[in-house]
Amino acid sequence: MPSTPYYVTTPIYYVNDEPHLGHIYTTIAADVLARHHRLMNEDVFFLTGVDEHGQKVQQAAEAQNIQPIELADKVVSRYQQLWPELAITNTDFIRTSEPRHHQAVHAMWKKLCAAGAIYKDIYEGWYCVPCETFWTETQLNDAECLEDKKCPDCKRSVEKVQEESYFFRLSQYQEPLLEHIRNHPDFIAPESRRNEVLRFVESGLRDLSVSRTTFSWGVPVPDDDAHVIYVWIDALTNYLTVLGMPEHDQSPYWPADLHLIGKDILRFHAVYWPCMLMAADLPLPKRIFAHGWWTVEGEKMSKSKGNALRPSDLLAHYEADVLRYFLLREVPFGADGDFSYDALKMRYNSELANDIGNLLNRSLAMLKKYRNSIVPESQTEEACDRALIADVEAMQREVDQHLSKQAFHLAIERISIVVRHGNRYIEENTPWALAKDGNEARLNTVLYHLVEMLRLVAVQLHPFMPNKSLAMLEQILTINPENIHLNFHDVGGWGKVKAGDTCLAPTPIFPRME
Ligand code: MSP
Repeated sequence: MPSTPYYVTTPIYYVNDEPHLGHIYTTIAADVLARHHRLMNEDVFFLTGVDEHGQKVQQAAEAQNIQPIELADKVVSRYQQLWPELAITNTDFIRTSEPRHHQAVHAMWKKLCAAGAIYKDIYEGWYCVPCETFWTETQLNDAECLEDKKCPDCKRSVEKVQEESYFFRLSQYQEPLLEHIRNHPDFIAPESRRNEVLRFVESGLRDLSVSRTTFSWGVPVPDDDAHVIYVWIDALTNYLTVLGMPEHDQSPYWPADLHLIGKDILRFHAVYWPCMLMAADLPLPKRIFAHGWWTVEGEKMSKSKGNALRPSDLLAHYEADVLRYFLLREVPFGADGDFSYDALKMRYNSELANDIGNLLNRSLAMLKKYRNSIVPESQTEEACDRALIADVEAMQREVDQHLSKQAFHLAIERISIVVRHGNRYIEENTPWALAKDGNEARLNTVLYHLVEMLRLVAVQLHPFMPNKSLAMLEQILTINPENIHLNFHDVGGWGKVKAGDTCLAPTPIFPRME
């Protein structure tokens, strides 16, 4: 039976700059979901890639005296090297300079034209190159940005633009979009962002300028190559390109289950994109989640301050799994957060080294000491054993529920509850006293429960810390975990560890960070 498709995307990153913390954040989040859905045996398509076109990239290339495509090639190789280092398991990597993407953008444009949604006029207004956003004079004025000629969003300089342009009849889709958002409470998350979009759309949508004539780095308008297609129309279409759409009308992966984005690009995804899709008569994505922004040691990251956190620097000091864990544990997805080395060290030492690491070491050390690392048979269960099993089973259900709402921090917290339960279980059952008293039956049961609980914790942690999880499973199962078919059906569920299975002596997986 074909398995359920699950399609998750990240934004495609501009190639004007090297990857930084903000870029890895979304991609790690998407990877956790992709891995979790693979554990559920779903047919996962996980897309990331780069946005190579537009004035911003063209200007960045000019500043380095190279062609935009040369700049793109350079930055793309950084991303392509980075993703495996962070254990990212994307299915495809899209570059918007690829022929398949030009074709898709042309097909999209033609669909919009055929629907009567495109017309030619003169654009007169302002443009923010860093955001690749058009602003009207009134919008600048309302945001008190007209006098300083500043972008209402990023506060950098805007430039005056007057040129012939194609327009997309965005205004026509105001009511259908409002209706869709109102009828689909889960379409935009978190709730505060949904309200923000509702207010924006209710205040009235104006037609959108969708082509430029004063620079050339982009996809030309079909049959009118004095114009390049507005970079956001081009970029948003990437989500269809990889599925062979919109040339083909459908794909098992469309509509996407989830577009993960940062809060700054919400309007493009939650307003322009659905309206384009409606005009092209295509289904809308099921959900758009806008996460918050990271500051670094209390400061906004910026190129000018030179404080942008580079993944390569982070990876020189911390393992990928530790970064993945910290970024998703530290801050509720959707809220803004601050990255600090102290916070990372604190969380690592208390939650990973102390709680999980200790539990694994103590349990496997006792198994070795009392049973030569061979899993004993569980005997008569007592209330505390049944409570541990119930907690593990609730964890499995609740992690899934949290992840279906992108509440990564709650999912991790739910796993931690079991870990703390496990440590308490040891304190309460005092295996060393059972051994001393010769209470072999009870000792067997306690050791069995510890091993099986740890195994299921490792399975639940897998999407977050794939390498650490495999290292845990290796100690618990002593078989090459690469050979295990990691899905909940085969490895989830209490009781898969059998009496007679052999574990390894513990080797610390989370040594303390000094
Ligand atoms: N190219 C567009 C996206 C097109 S999607 C069809 C773009 N690229 S970007 O490289 O500027 O930004 C990509 C993502 O990085 C955005 O989701 C943005 O929110 C995110 N971040 C940039 N700085 C960030 C932080 N400081 N913190 C968290 N995420 C941040 O926009």
